[in-house]
Amino acid sequence: MPRASLEKHPHEVAAMFDGVARRYDLTNDVLSLGQDRRWRTATIAAVGALPGQRVLDLAAGTGTSSEPFEAAGVRVVPCDFSVGMLQVGKDRRPSLPFTAGDATRLPFADESFDAVTISFGLRNVVDTPAALAEMLRVTRPGGRLVVCEFSRPTWAPFRTLYTEYLMRALPPVARAVSTEPDAYVYLAESIRAWPDQRGLAAIIRGAGWSAVGYRNLSGGIVALHRATRPADGRATRPADGRATRPADGPATPQSDGDGTSPRAPWPTSTTPDSPRRRLGRSSRPEG
Ligand SMILES: C[S@@+](CC[C@H](N)C(=O)[O-])C[C@H]1O[C@@H](n2cnc3c(N)ncnc32)[C@H](O)[C@@H]1O
Repeated sequence: MPRASLEKHPHEVAAMFDGVARRYDLTNDVLSLGQDRRWRTATIAAVGALPGQRVLDLAAGTGTSSEPFEAAGVRVVPCDFSVGMLQVGKDRRPSLPFTAGDATRLPFADESFDAVTISFGLRNVVDTPAALAEMLRVTRPGGRLVVCEFSRPTWAPFRTLYTEYLMRALPPVARAVSTEPDAYVYLAESIRAWPDQRGLAAIIRGAGWSAVGYRNLSGGIVALHRATRPADGRATRPADGRATRPADGPATPQSDGDGTSPRAPWPTSTTPDSPRRRLGRSSRPEG
């Protein structure tokens, strides 16, 4: 089975997810020690969609992340570019309107969703800013973005333990439960190479989103980033496929500890911060 490299060539990423599709949901539950259910509940709460609103669940895979939206009466559209994941999703969740599409060139009209969310998908997309710009384009002015993604544990001793788990324990566990263990080596490597909370917030803001804030889940193993499309902003897709940025005021996320409470704040301030870490770097500075 092809495993994707950290260059994240789209055909390699799609083929890798085609390969893990059948056992994806089970493997997820096992490797996250059941934590993924809590992370999904927090994501739904962060999106805060009302019944009848339209939500794009991008990189939805088999629809695990979309299902709770449907249960809440939200008109969710799961979208993914892995045909294997979409097929398994359609078999298991036939009522969901699965749509094939690439995050960097979405097959949706401008401003067609009240909110866009992406769970454990953004890290796999070849061009993060382009995907965030596309998400901005398809979201209505004033609409919301929620990104649920692996991040950086905030407490240093726990971070060390977690990194050991990722690099040492995860591959053998994956070998035991998955038919495609190499995909989980990619998982570990891609998590380590991903920006930390502030770094991702800066990238989101750079794509034109405003009021960017984040909260940590499970001590920062996962972070939820939330942002708003400026109400007076315009985002259109020019010929090169990237959305143009709407006007945006400064908004800075602050670390908020382990905000696992549904009522935890999403702090923002007006002082721009510098990203601690950019895409593609392999080490995270302390702080
Ligand atoms: C780890 S799965 C997450 C699935 C689901 N959101 C969940 O939470 O279980 C990541 C998904 O991202 C999809 N993906 C990666 N790059 C993509 C892209 N450029 N466009 C659309 N989907 C993409 C993969 O096909 C895969 O299904």
